[in-house]
Amino acid sequence: MRLLVTGGAGFIGSNFVHHVVANTDDHVTVLDALTYAGNRASLAGVPADRLTFVHGDITDAALVSSLFAKADAVVHYAAESHNDNSLDDPRPFVDTNIVGTYTLLEAARRHGVRFHHISTDEVYGDLELDDPERFTESTPYTPSSPYSSTKAGSDLLVRAWIRSFGVQATISNCSNNYGPYQHVEKFIPRQITNVIRGIRPKLYGAGQNVRDWIHADDHSSAVLTILDKGVIGETYLIGADGERNNRDVVELILTLMDQPSDAYDQVTDRVGHDLRYAIDSSKLRRELGWTPAYSDFEQGLSATIDWYRANEEWWAPAKDATEAIYAGKGQ
Ligand code: NAD
Ligand code: TYD
Repeated sequence: MRLLVTGGAGFIGSNFVHHVVANTDDHVTVLDALTYAGNRASLAGVPADRLTFVHGDITDAALVSSLFAKADAVVHYAAESHNDNSLDDPRPFVDTNIVGTYTLLEAARRHGVRFHHISTDEVYGDLELDDPERFTESTPYTPSSPYSSTKAGSDLLVRAWIRSFGVQATISNCSNNYGPYQHVEKFIPRQITNVIRGIRPKLYGAGQNVRDWIHADDHSSAVLTILDKGVIGETYLIGADGERNNRDVVELILTLMDQPSDAYDQVTDRVGHDLRYAIDSSKLRRELGWTPAYSDFEQGLSATIDWYRANEEWWAPAKDATEAIYAGKGQ
């Protein structure tokens, strides 16, 4: 199969490309604008005969159409992905997440190409800490931030293009990912690289907020499963039962890195900070037979710490500028 992967130089997209190359015979074309979040080095090691890299923007309709003409299926990861950035400047989120997804959908419609849209559980808003319910495919959309609202908008565009134009699409909404190649602006890599640099980890507010962690490689195996067996028009939630509050995660990182578990700072909280995300992924498990391979968060986190220790040349170029942005906001 000839797969087109948008955003394949980003965190989850590059993990997906490595997963596809290791587990299938597919050829992958990556379309990526190489924004601050994209890194060509994240695809190092992929054999040249398995990968074509195209530097370009998903809002470029002519380029997108020419690539769809040569693809059997498209997996759409490209996005502006960081909530904090969306609070500082929402415009790129509207351009890439909404206009970019619209541009891809029009090409999918014209070329009749199978399309899989990658989204987030943050479209469902947040849950109380003691709520026994988790998000399911039928939870109403109540996004909180410019990031999650533009992702929600993109999901609704996909649903409309399926119903109105017969686009052959599926959607997945996944919980928070961790693993190699994640930008140092995000929670887990920020704290790991802080400790490596001798900077104290930074916890927003009291750290009671809960995220439902899944290893990026499990996200990739779920997406391949949906591409293979998913029913056109359906939405699948992806999660690995990994709920933890942020304070516990910071303390675990410190402990795994041989530091006192209280050696962190509490900093200015994020405005509108979602309290808790939690995924019920039973539809994907029951109907498509998917199960995650990383069942032990502590083990996955430990392997991720090892990766950041061994790959300082990958993250160091972005570290100082990222910390300068956070310092300017008291975070
Ligand atoms: P990321 O920010 O690490 O990567 C995004 C990639 O998209 C980068 O390579 C960037 O260069 C590229 N890109 C951005 N704008 C583009 C444009 N206009 N044209 C072409 N390429 C462009 O993001 P990520 O964390 O890997 O997230 C990937 C996808 O997964 C997103 O759609 C995100 O909403 C979704 N998602 C992320 C998480 C998470 O925990 N990070 C969880 C669930 C879903
Ligand atoms: P993040 O990685 O930005 O993902 P998301 O906003 O999509 O959940 O943040 C994960 C959690 O960690 C979120 O509750 C905010 C919190 N956080 C901190 O406490 N400190 C930090 O330095 C960062 C970046 C995030």
